[in-house]
Amino acid sequence: MINFLGTPKLDTKRLILRRFELKDVQSVFNHWISDERVTDNRINAAHKEVSETYERVAKIVKDYSSDDFCYWAIEMKDSNNLIGEIDLYNFDNNTGNCEVSYSLGYNWWNHGYGTEALKAVVEFGFGQMNVHKISAAHNIDNPASGKIMMKARMAQEGTVRHMIRNTKGKYKDCALYGILQKDYNESKSILKQEITVFVNKDKRE
Ligand SMILES: CC(C)(COP(=O)(O)OP(=O)(O)OC[C@H]1O[C@@H](n2cnc3c(N)ncnc32)[C@H](O)[C@@H]1OP(=O)(O)O)[C@@H](O)C(=O)NCCC(=O)NCCS
Repeated sequence: MINFLGTPKLDTKRLILRRFELKDVQSVFNHWISDERVTDNRINAAHKEVSETYERVAKIVKDYSSDDFCYWAIEMKDSNNLIGEIDLYNFDNNTGNCEVSYSLGYNWWNHGYGTEALKAVVEFGFGQMNVHKISAAHNIDNPASGKIMMKARMAQEGTVRHMIRNTKGKYKDCALYGILQKDYNESKSILKQEITVFVNKDKRE
């Protein structure tokens, strides 16, 4: 059974994963959500107006009232820059399975931040929430995403042709990845990751 804990603060070597706040709207817009280099790898189109970003962030903030909502802002410890987002979603109470997705601002690609955030969320999902399996999919023309999944010890399970149609009408084949809790636990000693998970008493801060 999944142990829902909402969105507690997660602390890694260089990053803080925390809840979004309304004051983040401009950074979300400037750093990734208005940038097609980022959004072309996702399903939703880039935002043209900051008001679209306000609506999205406001919805996320509202949804924190549910314990089964796990959506983190990724902040750099040294600069306090907000550089991206990562979430666990599509929880299935029958199987105990869920999915993960993430985006980082282009300026911060290829510095290991995506891997660091994904490892933290996978650790939280298995170690704290008792999720059974975490899955994800990436467009096959977005190999960096597959790379970070592999670094978080997820394994490719297959490809699905024309799994999505992006906002420009182009169909994309996707690679599916997954990791089971039991496989994760077995490989944990290899991972040796440094992560501290803070869960507040009321589970909501
Ligand atoms: C996917 C994403 C989160 C990766 O974040 P990141 O911080 O750049 O990832 P990391 O730096 O931890 O690792 C990236 C790895 O991909 C590799 N990589 C980057 N571009 C690559 C390419 N074109 N082909 C192959 N490997 C590539 C890097 O070399 C690095 O591997 P290495 O550490 O072994 O050298 C980021 O690129 C992103 O936000 N993309 C847009 C949104 C997106 O794709 N979301 C996921 C949808 S499924």
